[in-house]
Amino acid sequence: MLAAMAANTKRSFDLSAYVQRVTKSVDAGLDKFLPSTSTKPATIHKAMRYSLFAGGKRMRPALLLAAADACGGKWNDALPLACAVECIHTYSLIHDDLPAMDDDDFRRGNPTNHKVFGEGIAILAGDALLTEAFALAAKAKGWPRYSHKQIVAEIALAAGSLQLIAGQVADLEGEGKKTSVDQLRYIHERKTSALLCASARLGGMSANCNAAQLKALTSFGYHVGLAFQVIDDILDVTKTSEQLGKTAGKDIAAQKATYPSIVGLEKSHKIAADLTARAFASLKPFKGKARALEALAEFLLKRQN
Ligand code: IPE
Ligand code: IPE
Ligand code: MG
Ligand code: MG
Ligand code: MG
Repeated sequence: MLAAMAANTKRSFDLSAYVQRVTKSVDAGLDKFLPSTSTKPATIHKAMRYSLFAGGKRMRPALLLAAADACGGKWNDALPLACAVECIHTYSLIHDDLPAMDDDDFRRGNPTNHKVFGEGIAILAGDALLTEAFALAAKAKGWPRYSHKQIVAEIALAAGSLQLIAGQVADLEGEGKKTSVDQLRYIHERKTSALLCASARLGGMSANCNAAQLKALTSFGYHVGLAFQVIDDILDVTKTSEQLGKTAGKDIAAQKATYPSIVGLEKSHKIAADLTARAFASLKPFKGKARALEALAEFLLKRQN
């Protein structure tokens, strides 16, 4: 399956050019939609933009725009939502790095938000980015099949206390404890997969996708999202801080529950590959028209940071 994936995507799709286009569009969108650094109170807008423009991989917006492409949508219609998911992701990282959570000093190759602006402003920058996501969703145009109400509910569910926050809670409460594979799956489904899955779904919704397409994107996003966190756990123990742009080896130091710590590295790689193959298989209904999603799934499995 993976060999077929590689052959398929490499032949005909320039993912690096695609991600560059995504990054350019999303950076321009964020710059346009968010208050400038001179807008009062300047400190908060500087802090928000500091983390937003620190060089993230923009994978959630890429999945969102690629899902829109697979459903024949226009990037202009999807862009406010692509910016919204990046705002939520960036807020979650700022808070994840706080001393009360993972206590990290580096992110995206730079000192973490609280190291530069202090904890109070970092907390507020996260709050503001989360709130901004809903303002962006309100800016999106409505679609015949999907109302603003549905779009907002989709984002709120993925980011809220049943999904992303639930995962972060379980992640913190799992520190130093023996964790089962099932419980680890519960954590990954929520802290990471939920937002990636919502990104794929929102991309489809922004293109007014049909029910079969939404179902396919849901399965794709779910599996890619799970693979994403397995790989994140693997990279934490196999790469250097320079390669990652964040401090390596933190999971063992904090006694986090991770796939490598529970099932070992080799099995972790296999689990990530199996999840990616499932994601790939979910795209069947698109009959070859989901080139960007296919290439992203493959890239996310092989990524080095
Ligand atoms: C890191 O996400 C946090 C996880 C959910 C594992 P990314 O690896 O997408 O981080 P950036 O956006 O590229 O910095
Ligand atoms: C972060 O997971 C998940 C969220 C921020 C929701 P990690 O704690 O593993 O992410 P990194 O390794 O700090 O990027
Ligand atoms: Mg964490
Ligand atoms: Mg962390
Ligand atoms: Mg991690």
